[in-house]
Amino acid sequence: MSDEKGLLHKAYTIQSTDQARDFYQDWAETYDDEITSHGYLTPHRCAEALAQFAPDKSAPLLDFGCGTGLSALALHAAGFTTIDGSDLSPEMLKRAAKRQGLYRNLIETDVNNPFDFPVGAYQAIAAIGVIASSHAPATTIDAALAALPADGLFVFSLNDHTLQDPEFEARVAENLDTGMARLLFKEHGDHLPGYDLGSVVYVMQKA
Ligand SMILES: C[S@@+](CC[C@H](N)C(=O)[O-])C[C@H]1O[C@@H](n2cnc3c(N)ncnc32)[C@H](O)[C@@H]1O
Repeated sequence: MSDEKGLLHKAYTIQSTDQARDFYQDWAETYDDEITSHGYLTPHRCAEALAQFAPDKSAPLLDFGCGTGLSALALHAAGFTTIDGSDLSPEMLKRAAKRQGLYRNLIETDVNNPFDFPVGAYQAIAAIGVIASSHAPATTIDAALAALPADGLFVFSLNDHTLQDPEFEARVAENLDTGMARLLFKEHGDHLPGYDLGSVVYVMQKA
């Protein structure tokens, strides 16, 4: 079911990173209400999947494309305690900063160098609802794995719209085929049930 009164439907029409930045500036104020009204489940699914494999939930975790912090709320509920957030949109980051005590640090993403930290700074990276057409590109999968230490974990989602473009799953397949990473978890389920949209949640482990 689509609700043309909100902004969600426009998220699937963005054509560029600049448009995405402008779009999320506008959506920041109403994002939480609109997306939760559609039963947004992917953060919970990602957090539970990651928690199954994480040996130390107090180790630093990067919530990439953190938005207003709904993803970190789910990660925290699953037991993760040291969470940094990064995002393209300053306005979404301002909202995330209002959730006091949830994030250790919040960082504005440099889209040309989104994982600008030493390898191993994070034991795990989450990209929840962020890798998608005209959002973070498919190559984010390679870049996130490159930024992790050996055995580091990468949890991310690809929604049904995004999965129509074979480029995204091709990045998953290539990283598995070349031995760069192992696939620990892959499951299709509800993304926004009120919007009739699903997603696949993946947990990959750097080899
Ligand atoms: C659908 S929201 C998801 C936010 C949050 N992870 C959640 O689950 O609620 C997508 C977020 O990705 C951010 N984003 C889009 N493209 C990005 C990019 N290339 N790099 C970093 N963040 C990006 C947007 O600003 C937005 O906050």
